[in-house]
Amino acid sequence: MSEQKTVSFERPVLRGTIQVPGDKSISHRAVMLGSIAEGKTTISGFLDGEDCLSTIDMFRKLGVTITRKGTDVVVESPGIANWQTPTETLDAGNSGTTARLMLGILSGSSVTSKMCGDQYLSKRPMKRVTGPLGLMGAKITSDEHDDFLPLTVEGTTLKAIDYQMPVASAQVKSAVLLAGLHGEGETSVTEISVSRDHTERMLMQFGAQLTQEGKTIRIAGGQKLTGTDVVVPGDISSAAFFMVAAAMVKDSVVTFEKVGLNPTRTGILDVLEAMGVSMKQLEEHGFSGERYGTIQISHSTLQATEIGGELIPRLIDELPVLALLATQAEGTTIIRDAEELRVKETDRIEAVATELRKLGATIETTPDGMIITGPTPLSGGTLQSYGDHRLGMMAAIAGLITSEPVHIENPSCIAISYPRFFEDLSDLVSEEIQ
Ligand code: S3P
Repeated sequence: MSEQKTVSFERPVLRGTIQVPGDKSISHRAVMLGSIAEGKTTISGFLDGEDCLSTIDMFRKLGVTITRKGTDVVVESPGIANWQTPTETLDAGNSGTTARLMLGILSGSSVTSKMCGDQYLSKRPMKRVTGPLGLMGAKITSDEHDDFLPLTVEGTTLKAIDYQMPVASAQVKSAVLLAGLHGEGETSVTEISVSRDHTERMLMQFGAQLTQEGKTIRIAGGQKLTGTDVVVPGDISSAAFFMVAAAMVKDSVVTFEKVGLNPTRTGILDVLEAMGVSMKQLEEHGFSGERYGTIQISHSTLQATEIGGELIPRLIDELPVLALLATQAEGTTIIRDAEELRVKETDRIEAVATELRKLGATIETTPDGMIITGPTPLSGGTLQSYGDHRLGMMAAIAGLITSEPVHIENPSCIAISYPRFFEDLSDLVSEEIQ
């Protein structure tokens, strides 16, 4: 029997201050660059979600010593040139970031390894990285289908390329840059739309030199990284669920402390503003090349908006919960240019529309997005998570505004990015969740 979680509140109100767990993208990269570097890296605020634990597990199999104490992680590495050939298959679990960035890193290493993933990751496209890596001379082979895991990587000497990206994807950009770090010559990557730039910022923090001109990033091969201290801010993609909750639920006011405010990730704030959400930025700081700050969001009357173009990569992971928000906005919200949603942990266009329709939402799907008309009162129901953490959390947040309870099938996937999600939800709502 599959597990289920019920979200049911009598007139909930969200009030209080929350510090969401560490940024997933930054946590992955801190372990990756700390393991490429020779020496010691200390990471504080690390996300102990399942995806990031998959990354730690891979590097342990490669001979890197990684110790954890709560959200502090210490990485002690002999450096990429001295990694051990793993005796077991490297398992990326559900994590696309682990798989794609590691394909880039392992291609330029001196080890041979096989990588697999779970049932969902094994259906997600890998050619988007193995294609450019192949142009660099990477030796990546498959047992069955060359677009999917499992794949075997035989580390080799790579050559530089100038790569024009066909999709807006930070994972593809990062895989090529991290391969380029160990290539012969200067590699360049040109994006179609600017995607999250955590890899670039962190490479510089570890002592590498990169240059950026418009949408082109260049990195010279043969640079050595040096271990350093990394502080991980809260994940704005996790905060997004409670930001939307605060905006939708009457009388709510929620303050988000130490939340990441890297401009390549703050598209959600632009959309909330466009929808009429009352928002205050109380503080802003910068550390380790990443910005963070305090944001306060209050319940507001919502208007429909249009979300597309260059905004999409800056909020790609927030689109499921923004679709939920749009059901409560006056007018028709259009999400376009977001075809990438179809190759996430699940097809998030079909999954979001199917699940929200079960609650009575008016949503049309298009090849590259959704058209949502509101405001619509939502009823309760049983929603599927599709093994996708962001679908599971979207369903839980929907439960705050439904007339009847929302039952979430297979909610355990939420631990992929937010292990304490339900505890934080009940702390903010201060009511019981069954
Ligand atoms: C990520 C990049 C994005 C995002 C994913 C994390 C990263 O994926 O959806 O959750 O850490 O680089 P794409 O690169 O496929 O857009």
